[in-house]
Amino acid sequence: MLLLRNIAQIVTLSGGPIPRVGDSMSELGIIENGAILIHGDRIVWVGTTKDIPVRDPGTRYQTLDGVGLNLVALPGFIDSHTHPIFAGTRVEEYDLRLRGKSYEQIAAEGGGIAASVEQLRAATVNQLLEKAERYFRHFLSHGTTTIEAKSGYGLSVQDEIKSLHVLAALRGRNRLEIVPTFMGAHAIPEEHAGSRSEYIREIIDRMIPQVVREGLAQFCDVFCEKGYFTVEESRSILLAAKEAGLGLRIHADELTHSGGARLAAELGARSADHLQYIDDADIEALKKSGTVATLLPGATFNSGTMHYAPARKLIAAGVPVALATDFNPGTCFTLNMQLMLAFACAQMRMTPAEAITAATVNGAYALGLSDRLGTLEAEKQADIVLMDASDYRELPYFFGINHCVVTIKKGNIVINRLEQT
Ligand code: NIG
Ligand code: FE
Repeated sequence: MLLLRNIAQIVTLSGGPIPRVGDSMSELGIIENGAILIHGDRIVWVGTTKDIPVRDPGTRYQTLDGVGLNLVALPGFIDSHTHPIFAGTRVEEYDLRLRGKSYEQIAAEGGGIAASVEQLRAATVNQLLEKAERYFRHFLSHGTTTIEAKSGYGLSVQDEIKSLHVLAALRGRNRLEIVPTFMGAHAIPEEHAGSRSEYIREIIDRMIPQVVREGLAQFCDVFCEKGYFTVEESRSILLAAKEAGLGLRIHADELTHSGGARLAAELGARSADHLQYIDDADIEALKKSGTVATLLPGATFNSGTMHYAPARKLIAAGVPVALATDFNPGTCFTLNMQLMLAFACAQMRMTPAEAITAATVNGAYALGLSDRLGTLEAEKQADIVLMDASDYRELPYFFGINHCVVTIKKGNIVINRLEQT
């Protein structure tokens, strides 16, 4: 058993509707000077330190005591949109962009996703495993306990399957929980530049069936965008995926008003992600379909366009909003969810409470995991992070440092920096 006690604030997020929408995004269920009792991989009790239940004298406890420290406990972050399987960085593109080249220009000249595809195809499974593992440790040490992870830098049957095999291997040997998504429709690979429809057939006829046969993914995602996949192409791929039993996600309206959000609503996708260029009618459509709007402010921050998704309008309309990093080597090379809270607040005018809700319970809902993850209450899985702060609002307010000192995944302490604080 593990007992956490004298925690200045526990952000439980317990009790509200799931997903949280509108005003309920602000209800954090905070317990001051709290305690949490964990048995195995489950939370068995949450309350104030003075109310800790009397224990059998024989029971052995490991205790983590926050007395004299300032600690805020919250559910481990759920990063519901990442692209973590790649073989190398694209730092030279970063430099080029700062000299005035756009993302689209770089892609047209053979950079962008195509550059990552070339690197990934040349890499072995072991090389990819080693690289991803390093990033996965960083996720855990920054307070993320679950990620959604996409393939999408292989873009051939062999290399998409290779990427998903890497994710499957990582699931077995890593504490970080991984929800795999197949994203063969991330771009048209160079060898199919003159035969797009052939590549789309390859996705539908070969990749999706094999992914499903081998149980390699739970979701299918498409980059529905000018220069990538049209609405019609995206629809045919996603319908095939749905038919095969995969859940749906869409990269929607990221660079232009491309119609992705509308398609997500039409197909009943679990999430529509990015959404920088959606309009009011799209927001209504998302509201009607119950699709989660997953906002990725790190990608906008890093692009320098200042064109953030309309978070306030989405929340006002009652659309469930989640926050994620979009961790990838092209548009957003960070895996720090604490930074997303800061961007969400300062740039999209979300409150700290809304941002934390979006990064935890609504992220869990976006992955279909909210029965087990995303809140701190009895029966839920013990995925808990302790932040070096006395008030949850310090997470976005005091931005740019790593507040996370303890990460607990399935009841196990996997990161402990407490001694060092
Ligand atoms: O989410 N939009 C598509 N995919 C990534 C970028 C991928 C890349 O440039 O490597 C994104 O922004
Ligand atoms: Fe993305």
